[in-house]
Formats: sequence, structure tokens, C-alpha cells
Amino acid sequence: MTQLFSGKEVSTSVYESLVPRIQALKSKGITPGLAAILVGEDPASKVYVRSKTRKFTSLDLFTETIRLDAEISQNELVLEIRNVNADDRFHGILVQLPLPKHIDEDKIIKVIDPVKDVDGFHPENVGYLTVGNPRFIPCTPKGIMRILSHYDVDLSGKHVVIIGRSNIVGRPVSILTSLKKSFSNATTTICHSGTKDIRFFTKQADIIIVAMGVPNFLDKSYIKPGVVLIDVGINRVEDDSERGYTLVGDIDRKSVTDIASGLTPVPGGVGPMTIAMLVENTVEAAALQSGISLD
Ligand code: GUN
Repeated sequence: MTQLFSGKEVSTSVYESLVPRIQALKSKGITPGLAAILVGEDPASKVYVRSKTRKFTSLDLFTETIRLDAEISQNELVLEIRNVNADDRFHGILVQLPLPKHIDEDKIIKVIDPVKDVDGFHPENVGYLTVGNPRFIPCTPKGIMRILSHYDVDLSGKHVVIIGRSNIVGRPVSILTSLKKSFSNATTTICHSGTKDIRFFTKQADIIIVAMGVPNFLDKSYIKPGVVLIDVGINRVEDDSERGYTLVGDIDRKSVTDIASGLTPVPGGVGPMTIAMLVENTVEAAALQSGISLD
């Protein structure tokens, strides 16, 4: 039997735990606020930003989406970010990635005020995480760790294999899983496009985190019995359904079922956790910026 690790269920408990913290801030006149900056018309980015901001609205938090033309210049985008840096209605700033090709993402991320960087992408926050003293932890990796601890998967002494080395998921989750902390403390391997024989590593793994963006990539030929599988992929596969596509992960769920001991489904696994962690980081950013200590 493969246990399903429901991100929906874990995110519900995160929101419950946030209610008193949000109330504590509101009682002091502070409503946590998020600025979401969306550049261009990428359909997936539009969907992600909409689901993030909807959640803020449903929790009576403040949010605004700043929609910018795909042709915006690097300098104009820098000015937009400086405006939200200076606007104290916003405790968190999210610049949805990827940005159009002519924009230098690394330079843009450095313009975000690090105390409002609720994505945890600014080099200052990456540094804090790397030395084991995190301020803001990137939302998807933080959500993965929360799912694992919720379902009592202790990584200590285990071999975690991550497929993908992006700054959004693979790299930060490799740092988190190997920190000397409870529920962490794993031996961590990162596989990527330069890895010669991915199966050599995944077949040894106790936990595999797949963040590649390749539909149904990981099947039973990559795993050993009892492995825990975390699927970060959300891929649109076109079909003749009414919507025109189905969402599938990077893991071939049918193939691994009854071999893996646990699995995050797509949808309903890591996705809802990314949003919950964004809300949590923004609530914590509001507390930090107003000098209020929450619990
Ligand atoms: N693009 C894909 N995932 C993310 C994320 O977590 N944050 C931002 N800003 N962009 C993304």
C-alpha cells in the first residue's frame, strides 16, 4: 500500500495555525500584505498568481497584483520593485518567475528588499538558509519539509535524492534536507541534466524529490521498495477533455503505486503547500517588520 501525503490536508492545518497569528497582528492594526508582480502573459504564471492572491483574499489579508507588460525594460521593472519596497502596505513581495528572456532575473531578485522577500530568493536569504539560520525559506522546499514532518518521515540518516537543481526548488531543498536539525540531517544527493546515470542514485534513495518538469518521468524502474516520493511537477498534458489538458506530475503514479511507501499526489500534494508557505512567510514578514513577536 502506498500512503498518499495530502498537501491539501497539511495546508488546512497550516491555515488553522495562522488564524490566531493573523488576529494578533490585526489587533495591533497590521494586516499582512503581499504584492504580486506578474510580467507578461505566461498562462501558467497567471494561474499561479491568481491562486496565490485568491488565498490571501479569502483569509482577509491584503494583496495587490501588479501586472506589467512583457516588453517592460529591466530599469522600469527595477523602479516598480523599488515602489513596492517603499510601500508599507506590503510586507511581502513576490516576483513571479520565469521573467521574459530580456530581463536578468538575478539582478531583479537583488532589488527586492530582503526583509520583504517572502520567496526567499534574495542572496541574503539564501545565505541565511545555507548557514542553517533561515529567515525566509523558499515556499516549495519549505512546504515539502512540512509535508514530510506532518507524516512523520524523519530524514535523519536517510539518503535523499533530488532530481533538479533550480534555485526555486532543487538547490534550497538540498540545503534544507542536509541541515543538522530535527527531521532533517539527511545525506543528500542532487541529480541534474549532467548526471550520467540517475537510476544509480535513485535506486539507493530512501526519499526522492522530483522537480524536473517532465511529465511522468519517474517510474518503477528508478526506485526501491518502500521509498517515499515527493512530486514537485505540475505539467499540462493536452488531451481531448473539456479543459483540453490534464495536470500530471513528474512521477508516473500508476507505475510506482504499491512499491513506494508514500507519495504526494498531483494535484493536491506539493502545490497547495507552496501557497500555504507563502501566506506563512508573509505573516512572519509582517511580524518582523512591525517588531511584533508571534508565539
Ligand atoms: N515560479 C515557480 N515557482 C515559483 C515560486 O515559488 N515563486 C515565484 N516567485 N515564482 C515561481
